[in-house]
Parts: sequence; structure tokens; C-alpha cells
Amino acid sequence: MTSNELIKKGSDILKKNKIKSHIIDSELLLSNVSGKSRESFLLNSNFKIDPSQIRSFNDLVARRAYRKEPVAYLLNKKEFWSMKFKVNKDVLIPRPETEILVEALVKYYKGHDPFILDIGTGSGCIIISLLQELKQSKGVAIDISNKALKIAKKNSKILNIPNRIKFVKASICNFNSFKFDLIVSNPPYIARHQLKNLDVGIKKFEPKIALDGGNDGLDVIRKVIYKSRKILKINGMLALEIGNGQYKKVSQILKLNKFNEKFLISDYKNNIRCILSVLNHY
Ligand SMILES: C[S@@+](CC[C@H](N)C(=O)[O-])C[C@H]1O[C@@H](n2cnc3c(N)ncnc32)[C@H](O)[C@@H]1O
Repeated sequence: MTSNELIKKGSDILKKNKIKSHIIDSELLLSNVSGKSRESFLLNSNFKIDPSQIRSFNDLVARRAYRKEPVAYLLNKKEFWSMKFKVNKDVLIPRPETEILVEALVKYYKGHDPFILDIGTGSGCIIISLLQELKQSKGVAIDISNKALKIAKKNSKILNIPNRIKFVKASICNFNSFKFDLIVSNPPYIARHQLKNLDVGIKKFEPKIALDGGNDGLDVIRKVIYKSRKILKINGMLALEIGNGQYKKVSQILKLNKFNEKFLISDYKNNIRCILSVLNHY
């Protein structure tokens, strides 16, 4: 079978099983098993794919179609900030919304070298992307999940950020350390009663510890804000990703903890998803 025939076959199966991104998923899966880029399929639709690769492709398509496994977990990688991050079921799959946060921070800190804390680092996508851009910066990345830290450390090596990040296994509740210029966090923020409404691929495969924000979704956000107040430098910045519809409540918590909002950033659907605020000690 040729590459084009296989992509069509895979895409049809995925479509029948209600996978919206059926074409791109089929291309990505074939690219992975054949070792050829997606772009090369566009230039040449007639690559011969050998039988063992076809078997692997069919397996992956079935896992995507019937079990709804996310493509990033099937391929063990996800592109973020134009880099390939290693991922597995121990870490949240990096999302485009989080790139908006990175973009705002890179713009704000261009030419500076903030000392950064990333709370709930997961795959390490935020801090690694920031340090990739802010070449003189250093940082600390914490997570309560040992397995997530293992992946984040691997990513920092693969993506060549040598010795500029210290990885610490800790909950933000027990973390007391240096004074930071910038604290960044994409904490778990889904209200517990809403976990059951998530897409099946998310609720079945992504780590619950990365999603569950307690009764109102704000448990970890509250902890992050409260602790940031103590470990940020004066005029230090707290950059938070929040869930859709959480802005008003988070804004109140920030005010109560003496933070002044500096920038609000909306996602592609115009919902406020990131708050950059500065600690005011007076
Ligand atoms: C939504 S994920 C974000 C992962 C990554 N930063 C990203 O943006 O893709 C949240 C992460 O916070 C971690 N986490 C949850 N509760 C925590 C806590 N109390 N202290 C530190 N990390 C926590 C989870 O293990 C998970 O890796």
C-alpha cells in the first residue's frame, strides 16, 4: 500500500469513530511508523510502506479510534514552542494555551535574566521554553509527581538546557526557597465535579493529579498565590494560567494577597486564560 492510501484508510477509520482531527492524526501516525515527515507525504503521495510498518500503523490507528488514546501519548512526543517534548501518561500534554503564556513572558523579559520558579512543571514545557529564549536566566522547577519530574529532566537534557534548571520534588505547600523574580504556573484547575465531563481521551489518559483543582477548581491556584506572595521578590511577577470562567474569582484572590494585575491574556476563543500580576509589598 502507498502512503496516500494508508493515510486515507486511517483517516476514514478515525472519522467513523468521531475523531475530529482524523486527517492530521492519520498523517502523524504514519509519519511516526515510517520515519518520513508529514511534509514529505504532501510532496510525494506514493511512498511504499512496508508490511511491518503497516501493521504498526494499523495498531496505532486502532488505539486512537477505539480507545481514544491521545496522539501525543501514542507518539511519546508533543511539539511546544517549536520544540519536540517527550511526553508519556505521567505528564499533561502541553497545550497551545500555555504557549500564549510563554509568548507573553518572553516578550516581557526580553533582554533580562529573571530567576524563575515553575510550579507544577509537568513535562517542563514552560520553564524549558522560557530558558531557551532567555539565555542568561536560571530557574527551579517543582512538581509533586516524581514521574513527571523524570520526564521534565529528560526534556531539559534533550533540549539542551544544561544545568540551568534545578528540579525539586515538592508540593508548593512545603516549598520554601529563594526569592524569585518570576513565578509561573499552569496548575491543575478543573473543578472535581467537572472531571467526568472532560473528553474521554483526557479523562482516561491524562494524569488526574495534573487536572484536579479540588471542589471549585481553585485549590492549587490559591496555594500558588499564597506561597508566591512569600517567595517572590518585591515587584516580582506571578504568571498564572487559569481555566475558562475562573478570572473573576482568581482576580479576587490576587487582590487579597496584594497582587496588582498587569496584563490579561485571552486565548484563541477570547477567554481570559492568563494573568500576569506584580507583587506590591506596600
Ligand atoms: C496542569 S499540569 C501543568 C504541567 C505543565 N506545566 C504544562 O503546562 O503543561 C499541573 C502540574 O502540577 C502538578 N501539581 C499538582 N499539584 C501540585 C502541588 N500542590 N505542588 C506542585 N505541583 C503540583 C501536577 O503533578 C502537574 O504536573
